[in-house]
Amino acid sequence: MRVNPGGILSPKEVVGRDRLIQKLWRILGRQSLVLTAERRMGKTSIVKKMDSEAPDTVITIYRDLEGIKTAADFTRRVLDDVEKYLSYVGKSAIKVRDLIRNLTGLEIAGVVKLPELAEDHWNDVLQRAMEDLLEHQNCPVIFFWDELPLMLYDIKQQQGETFVQEILDVLRSLRQTHPNLRMVFTGSIGLHNVLTTLKRGGYANDPTNDMKIVDVPPLAQTDAEDLARQLIVGEGLAVELEKTAQEIAKAADNLPFFIHQLVDHFLEAEEPADVASIVKQYMLDPQDPWHLRYYRERIDTYYLNRDKALALELLDVLALAPEPLSFDEIYNRILSQTDTFDIESTRDVLTLLQRDHYIQQVDVNAYEFRFALIQQSWIIHRGLAK
Ligand SMILES: Nc1ncnc2c1ncn2[C@@H]1O[C@H](COP(=O)(O)OP(=O)(O)O)[C@@H](O)[C@H]1O
Ligand SMILES: [Mg+2]
Repeated sequence: MRVNPGGILSPKEVVGRDRLIQKLWRILGRQSLVLTAERRMGKTSIVKKMDSEAPDTVITIYRDLEGIKTAADFTRRVLDDVEKYLSYVGKSAIKVRDLIRNLTGLEIAGVVKLPELAEDHWNDVLQRAMEDLLEHQNCPVIFFWDELPLMLYDIKQQQGETFVQEILDVLRSLRQTHPNLRMVFTGSIGLHNVLTTLKRGGYANDPTNDMKIVDVPPLAQTDAEDLARQLIVGEGLAVELEKTAQEIAKAADNLPFFIHQLVDHFLEAEEPADVASIVKQYMLDPQDPWHLRYYRERIDTYYLNRDKALALELLDVLALAPEPLSFDEIYNRILSQTDTFDIESTRDVLTLLQRDHYIQQVDVNAYEFRFALIQQSWIIHRGLAK
């Protein structure tokens, strides 16, 4: 196998996700799904593999939603996909056509599109499109909507939060009305990063609380080593195979994106290199080729102003801890720096950082960075090293 960090993989290049994929199909047998993980953890690879290897007993539609900035454009994409499927089975979106004719007087020849005149009615059009699609369907139809939360964030910036609420409400109502309809949202950010009402961890109004949330973990160690091995062999790298594969998997925290990156850097290295020095070199690179500064920038983008400084303080404390810390230890270390933050806010933001995959609770009262690689980059990029 050849290295391809960040590119689109063919299904057979997706290593080690078989059990997770089986689990996801099982869940989709009964309900819709939210697949969460950081950027570049492998979400798209998983859903594209599922889309291309779906059993005959379901219909699947994959769509990348990143870059869509209005509710009407979202409706257009869905409508395109519905029309494409309907024409494939020799049908067309009759209800949508009728609705658009009633709204605008326009008679649509050929493929049905949402005209600008009817943009305000995107909500009705979306509902009719689903009715057209599901009308004579007796098997589940699954929409894989990749990066839906990022789309919602952009829509919020462009059109305001009420539009986001309305989209989520209409999607939930569609899930409730059509038992054969399934949705899979994959997201690098959670809805709590988008909706003010969910910002501080409130679940009560979560418009996806009928969906099952599944976190995409790193690869299992054996799969991570297997991927490293396949890439080393595929690229004809002249290194000690077993030892290097193990070192790469470990340095990459079993994260497939960094395994690809590390093998790539071995190929580029002009002199014989070892894994640790490659990792360090890339962390020091001001161009940040591994996009690790994203973890810092994201706090400015998505956190409430009142939480930003506290989030940074918490991550600084945890980054420097060689062992997991209890909540008291964390709070005392913060107090030794500043008395700006009260104890309940500290609890809330700690929860938020867990939901955003920065840290994990390893025991009843023990917190640490989720990935040693990110921890290391946090220490370097924040100038925390003693
Ligand atoms: N299961 C996997 N096997 C091999 N490489 C993977 C796998 N998952 C992810 N990768 C690598 O990581 C990169 C990013 O994966 P992607 O699925 O696009 O992540 P996400 O959608 O979570 O941002 C891919 O281009 C590939 O290099
Ligand atoms: Mg993706």
